[in-house]
Amino acid sequence: MDALSCAEIIKATNGMLLSGSKDSIFNSVSTDSRNINTGDLFVPIKGEKFDGHEYIVESLKKGAVGSITEKDIKLDDKNKVLIKVEDTLKALRDISAFYREKFDIPFVGITGSVGKTSTKEMVSSVLGKVLNVLKTKGNFNNEIGVPLTIFGLDSFHQAAVVEMGMSGLGEISRLTSIVKPNIAIITNIGLCHIEKLGSKKNILKAKMEILEGLNSKGLVILNGDDKLLYGLKGLLKYRTVFYGFEEGMDYQAYNVKSLGEKGSLFEIEIKAKEYKVKVPVPGIHNIHNALASIAAGIELGIPEDKIIAGIEEFTPGNMRLNIINHNGVKIINDAYNASPQSVEAAITVLADISSGKRTIAVLGDMYELGDLTYSSHFDIGKFAVSQGTDYIVAVGENSDIISSGAISAGAETDKVYKFKENNEAGKFLKDFIKNGDVILVKGSRGMKMEEIVNQLTC
Ligand SMILES: Nc1ncnc2c1ncn2[C@@H]1O[C@H](COP(=O)(O)OP(=O)(O)OP(=O)(O)O)[C@@H](O)[C@H]1O
Ligand SMILES: [Mg+2]
Repeated sequence: MDALSCAEIIKATNGMLLSGSKDSIFNSVSTDSRNINTGDLFVPIKGEKFDGHEYIVESLKKGAVGSITEKDIKLDDKNKVLIKVEDTLKALRDISAFYREKFDIPFVGITGSVGKTSTKEMVSSVLGKVLNVLKTKGNFNNEIGVPLTIFGLDSFHQAAVVEMGMSGLGEISRLTSIVKPNIAIITNIGLCHIEKLGSKKNILKAKMEILEGLNSKGLVILNGDDKLLYGLKGLLKYRTVFYGFEEGMDYQAYNVKSLGEKGSLFEIEIKAKEYKVKVPVPGIHNIHNALASIAAGIELGIPEDKIIAGIEEFTPGNMRLNIINHNGVKIINDAYNASPQSVEAAITVLADISSGKRTIAVLGDMYELGDLTYSSHFDIGKFAVSQGTDYIVAVGENSDIISSGAISAGAETDKVYKFKENNEAGKFLKDFIKNGDVILVKGSRGMKMEEIVNQLTC
């Protein structure tokens, strides 16, 4: 981060200086008192369990030059800066929005129900062939993560790729007002957070908030294979391009060929010239992510050969469809998270890479589905059977529903197993699996399905 002065922080937050000098300089911004560096500005955040205000004094002792505060606090060291604001979380947003304005570089904002992180990584890989790219670290996509991402910018960067997540209406709106993207990508409209938002239309509305911050000359990149997103065709006031497999897309993948676990190949016409693209990670969904990256790369003037090389060099994040070969067994570790859409994507990959071997889908609960909990788990059981999965091992509270769905679709009862706990499922699998098996492990983050992967690999 480039330094910010106390006067700038006061201006950005409309705060009141309670202590210290306006000329003080901050080298960085931190919300975590455990990781304070000398010269930081500490921004205390009120969480469910802790109130960051209790750590202001400690942070200053550790070397922070000053702190934001909602409360009047007496400091022993009058040289330390204290700036009073009404809401520290808003102050964090205000400071990051102010800081973002210092950078006249392209910002790519990415939202959607699933595939944000994967798309962020792929877009970064493409842009990174030519530009110095700042990207969201890991999954830092919320009201704290996005500002902290922005503070990672410095004069070295030539582009920024920022993931924006949400769990309710209004959140993306706040994030996009910080990021002010030049390019907005929406990966799809799925069922994540339907519990809170009530309907898919509301989920679409929440994702569309990303456009509120879009530059008027900006570009919207939408997954055209998503019915709700394609429904926006002709309705947006921004330049818009669609990507997908269907005819009529601006970026259309055709002649798709699976390379099994090595990924897939597809062809695409860009500016009336045909190209072959290799996606080094399996799953049709990764072709979607590659298409979004091509659209972003073209918009930012990256040469076609560099775009294609950037896709080919992509590496997936931790626990996202990682393929582990262990003692003759292939495990697809997709334990990072799960929604109906991403579970379907992963089951398709399982079928795709099995090449005739026994397939086992270890499927955990999918959270936050509200009224759709029953039907979604039932349908996942059915979907697994429709894709030819040989054995289904359902884990968690909804394991009964997954197994009922599987049996309703014709699975034999002795090929469907259900367990309440990871540990029980892990023990069963350790005895059950045989050389050559291909196993998918997937469930919501709270299910911690990596425990099963660990059991199988230790
Ligand atoms: N475009 C896509 N469409 C459907 N599924 C996808 C797509 N991209 C990735 N996935 C699947 O969804 C899982 C989650 O992907 P990813 O972490 O990229 O999503 P995310 O939107 O960032 O999730 P989160 O909301 O947790 O941040 C991956 O493991 C993969 O199986
Ligand atoms: Mg993510």
